[in-house]
Amino acid sequence: MTEVRAAEEPSPLEVQPGALWYRGAIDRAGQEALLADIDRVLAEAPPFVPRMPRTGAPLSVRMSNCGPLGWISDAAGYRYQAFHPDTRRPWPAMPDRLLALWERFAGYGAPPEACLINLYGPEARMSLHQDRDEADFAAPVLSISLGATAIFRLGGETRRGPTRSVRLASGDIFVLGGASRLAFHGIDRILAGSSTLVADGGRINLTLRRVTAI
Ligand code: SIN
Ligand code: FE2
Repeated sequence: MTEVRAAEEPSPLEVQPGALWYRGAIDRAGQEALLADIDRVLAEAPPFVPRMPRTGAPLSVRMSNCGPLGWISDAAGYRYQAFHPDTRRPWPAMPDRLLALWERFAGYGAPPEACLINLYGPEARMSLHQDRDEADFAAPVLSISLGATAIFRLGGETRRGPTRSVRLASGDIFVLGGASRLAFHGIDRILAGSSTLVADGGRINLTLRRVTAI
């Protein structure tokens, strides 16, 4: 296994309390190894089109998951479930490389149960939202960026409060924990073609989450 190497002693930038930005946490070889893991996951659990609750309007990203649970959204609502919405098969196992990154960067005493894979084409975005479908907010959400740089918007716990923008580049890790665990966040847009890692200049974001309480 190609080890995903982080910088010697990665020191994060604390963008706001509980929001930690580890720039360049994963080097190019590590990014390529992760991408190969994700390609294997996607071969087994193909990207699906998530839809808004009630209206059924499609989101602009495509999604998949790995790990015991996966996050999905369709006309019936947001939820975690153990199987792919189209194939009905269990999600593929969480790759060891992701478990190792969680151990290193999440600082939490239990493994993640879900890895949501968000696939961004040139026009994809993600509106401001909170990650709050988990039973316990003690564990952080750990986000890994691969491919094109994204304009990530981060706010506080209210939708209308002030926000700031962070440019998440390939290999960056962002942790939403503590006072930022329920911070509103979203992707305004991606800078398509700003990285050669992902085919067609797109972006892949992986968010690792603990779903149940320990
Ligand atoms: C998300 O909040 O689910 C995705 C964030 C990102 O793409 O960086
Ligand atoms: Fe999110």
